[in-house]
Amino acid sequence: MSQLNKDVMVALDFSSKKEVMDFLDLFSEEKPFVKIGMELYYAEGPSIVREIKARGHKIFLDLKLHDIPNTVKKAMAVLSNLDVDMCNLHAAGTVAMMEGALAGLTRADGTRPLLIAVTQLTSTSEERMREDLLIERPLDEVVMHYASRAAKAGLDGVVCSPLEAGKVHETCGEKFLTVTPGVRFADGEVGDQVRVTTPARARELGSDFIVVGRPITQAPDPVAAYRRCVKEFLG
Ligand code: C5P
Repeated sequence: MSQLNKDVMVALDFSSKKEVMDFLDLFSEEKPFVKIGMELYYAEGPSIVREIKARGHKIFLDLKLHDIPNTVKKAMAVLSNLDVDMCNLHAAGTVAMMEGALAGLTRADGTRPLLIAVTQLTSTSEERMREDLLIERPLDEVVMHYASRAAKAGLDGVVCSPLEAGKVHETCGEKFLTVTPGVRFADGEVGDQVRVTTPARARELGSDFIVVGRPITQAPDPVAAYRRCVKEFLG
């Protein structure tokens, strides 16, 4: 498994190669850890992952797999060959699916990308869980349960709110990674995020990786915004 320390991940929420390359070209000194999501991956295909990797960036490939264990195992084997550093799936796919994913991810030399789980999406409310999914338990109990099932399956961590990071660590151990979006500068725009924290607060709360999109990508000076984020988060 790759060994990674705490870091800031920049969410490359762009829909074309040109936009993403223009953005990455701004960085001449640093090589930020980046997150590639469905939009960019589906628009440009696996070659965009190879190209960004070849430029020296670490990559979190955020495709949130969820299917039968055998299908996820085989898909993860393909993603592992793309040489990404982290990828993810839905914990709702069950422990068997998560174990299949890990088996598929592991390369012949025994190394593999980190694998983290989505518990409940932050767009899902308790009301939606109850009415759409027939899940009656409180949201935070469900999130912690899914996190502990992910840990049981051998995964490396979960995506969660920075506000949940401490409790995830209490439940699943200090080494179980928390990857946390919903980060904003104290003086910045919140946008459509609801429960936000600053990079410094995310560090205090125990986040291992913060995922930051618009506060960096839409900043007048993205490199300065990235540096500010790193300074606040890593100290
Ligand atoms: O622009 P912003 O900083 O809000 O971007 C956050 C990134 O993290 C986006 O790529 C978004 O899809 C992702 N994300 C999130 N909340 C989650 C899971 C992922 O904001 N619960």
